[in-house]
Amino acid sequence: MSKVEQITGGLNGTIKVPGDKSISHRAVMFGAIAEGTTTIEGFLPGEDCLSTIDCFRKLGIHIEAQGDKVKVEGKGWEGLTEPSEILDVGNSGTTTRLMLGILSTRPFHTVVIGDASIAKRPMSRVTDPLRQMGAVIDGRNNGNLTPLSIRGGQTKGIDFISKVASAQVKSSLLLAGLQSEGVTTVTEPHLSRDHTERMLRAFGVDVEIDGLTVSVKGGQDLKAQHVVVPGDVSSAAFFLVAGAIVPNSQIVLENVGVNPSRTGIIDVLQQMGAKLELINERESNGEPVADIIISTSDLKGTEIGGDIIPRLIDEIPVIAVLASQAQGKTVIRDAEELKVKETNRIDTVVSELRKLGAEIEATDDGMVINGPVQLRGNTVDSHGDHRIGMAMAIAGCVANGSVTVENSEAIAVSYPNFFDHIKKLT
Ligand code: S3P
Repeated sequence: MSKVEQITGGLNGTIKVPGDKSISHRAVMFGAIAEGTTTIEGFLPGEDCLSTIDCFRKLGIHIEAQGDKVKVEGKGWEGLTEPSEILDVGNSGTTTRLMLGILSTRPFHTVVIGDASIAKRPMSRVTDPLRQMGAVIDGRNNGNLTPLSIRGGQTKGIDFISKVASAQVKSSLLLAGLQSEGVTTVTEPHLSRDHTERMLRAFGVDVEIDGLTVSVKGGQDLKAQHVVVPGDVSSAAFFLVAGAIVPNSQIVLENVGVNPSRTGIIDVLQQMGAKLELINERESNGEPVADIIISTSDLKGTEIGGDIIPRLIDEIPVIAVLASQAQGKTVIRDAEELKVKETNRIDTVVSELRKLGAEIEATDDGMVINGPVQLRGNTVDSHGDHRIGMAMAIAGCVANGSVTVENSEAIAVSYPNFFDHIKKLT
């Protein structure tokens, strides 16, 4: 449980948000299947990425981790060995889905479990195509729900048209494709984050990209790399919103990854009238990076839907908080995917923000928020979802009365020093 009080003197100063969660997972996994020693700096030591390390250690890979520095002793694809224990992914959908792609091509048996949230999340979006490629996968609900059992082997390439824009689906199939016969092609309806494509290329893999279609040939090996992980724009999002809505604020966020497939939040802030500036734009390890300055702003409501949704899907909980402080109506549509995140984020955002007095309605594929509303203190619940917990804490910064966030421990999944950063800026 954590308590947040209204901030009247503003949030001011500079912070460096923790490493990108998506890139941290991939750096460990790609290092584990590559030949040689991969070194990672800027790694996110959050619970999700620690679950990935734990799973790959159980698969026989020696991994040293100290804070944000990680060393992965890869021995190529053949270096992965049959685990004697069940692999526990904790709360991490990325670990589950990407690892299933890798395990589908390995000639041994594995059992994968996770926490109560993972047990509800749909896995058939990867297990169905991986089965078509030749992997033997079973589990509850005909292989849709954990615990899952996987017996990998010689797989065949697939030409897969995905119904959802999901980087986890795309990445899982591409990883399996690297050790399958022939070519594996994935086409998605909108562009999802492309960290897998960028990092596979950095690890020496040939990846073909044609619009929304990505292909890899089978029989490709990875070569160990030094990976520098930029700050996570999805973690920065909480302070971008806080900086915009808390009076008298100016925050500098250093070293934030600004890959265009992730920066929908910046577009939305600008669309809503936020005072935001990107400086020191540079490239680090194939990923664009910048420092971002955000100041208290007069905000207006907006419409969010279509192609931008995968570019901000994880930021919608905190965008709802932002919209509650903007003049007029904000409509979020085409975001059904929110229903299958760590919680049903349409339901949890709406129920928790209403407890603070927000004017917010759920729709079939998103939500409608009217603002500005003076939020009030109350007790809310993260429902075990890190991003709901942080969004509520940011709402607490502008509520008149203290906001108690129950089950705030979940925040350690992606942002272990979140409350320290609020304190530092206050
Ligand atoms: C992720 C992809 C997204 C995102 C998740 C991380 C990734 O999920 O919501 O937090 O690292 O590939 P989907 O692929 O389910 O959209």
